[in-house]
Amino acid sequence: MNHEPATVRTRVRELAYQFLQQNDPTGWFEALYSQVQGDTSQIPWADLTVNPNLSEWLENNQIQGKAKKALVVGCGLGDDAEALSQKGFAVTGFDISPSAIAWCQQRFPNSQVNYIVSDALKLEQSWQQSWDFILESYTLQSLPSSVRKQVMETIVGYLAPGGTLLIICLGRNQSEDEGKYPPYPLTQEELDFIEELGLKKLALEDYLDRKTPPERRFRAQYLKE
Ligand SMILES: C[S@@+](CC[C@H](N)C(=O)[O-])C[C@H]1O[C@@H](n2cnc3c(N)ncnc32)[C@H](O)[C@@H]1O
Repeated sequence: MNHEPATVRTRVRELAYQFLQQNDPTGWFEALYSQVQGDTSQIPWADLTVNPNLSEWLENNQIQGKAKKALVVGCGLGDDAEALSQKGFAVTGFDISPSAIAWCQQRFPNSQVNYIVSDALKLEQSWQQSWDFILESYTLQSLPSSVRKQVMETIVGYLAPGGTLLIICLGRNQSEDEGKYPPYPLTQEELDFIEELGLKKLALEDYLDRKTPPERRFRAQYLKE
């Protein structure tokens, strides 16, 4: 089934807004994934392929994941987790939405990735300081500012000493309004909180992506020393 992307985006924004109005910033994800019943054209971020902002970074940095553990935050339909698995990482992808996780398991029945339901706003104690590589791509930007710091704290806590955190998100200047609906582009000042949590910033790329029309992205790499 083909859906006009603008109509899909509007519908999803309205759904998100209903939940946000009820002080439930995360409830709309499961509502969306379960409502669409397998129709990926109704999920605005479901490209069914690895995020090019990730694959490009993996290639440019010649990343190899052999003998390393990677965690994918808000893994959605699983393509980025699969790409990291292809690079040799032992990958866990987690998402707050049980329907998204079931969908990953259905899409990739022979996957090496461990797909599990977990909420980045609730700590998994056994994950503390455990991961060599953590990918956060488009989840922070889909959450309101009221909870973004808490998610940052969670994922920084999960990183092992010597580990890398990669964040990919929409970017804006502080002087620009973040808008009423998700996705909310982040500011570099917001990302500075990651350094306040003790990580060292190795790179922050601020660029226009290859979409039509192009969108401003931040791709930030941090190290836990
Ligand atoms: C905009 S989507 C991006 C999905 C995927 N990272 C991608 O790039 O295609 C955000 C994802 O984060 C998940 N999510 C939102 N809040 C979460 C939370 N607190 N804990 C775990 N996952 C969360 C949503 O269910 C959704 O799959």
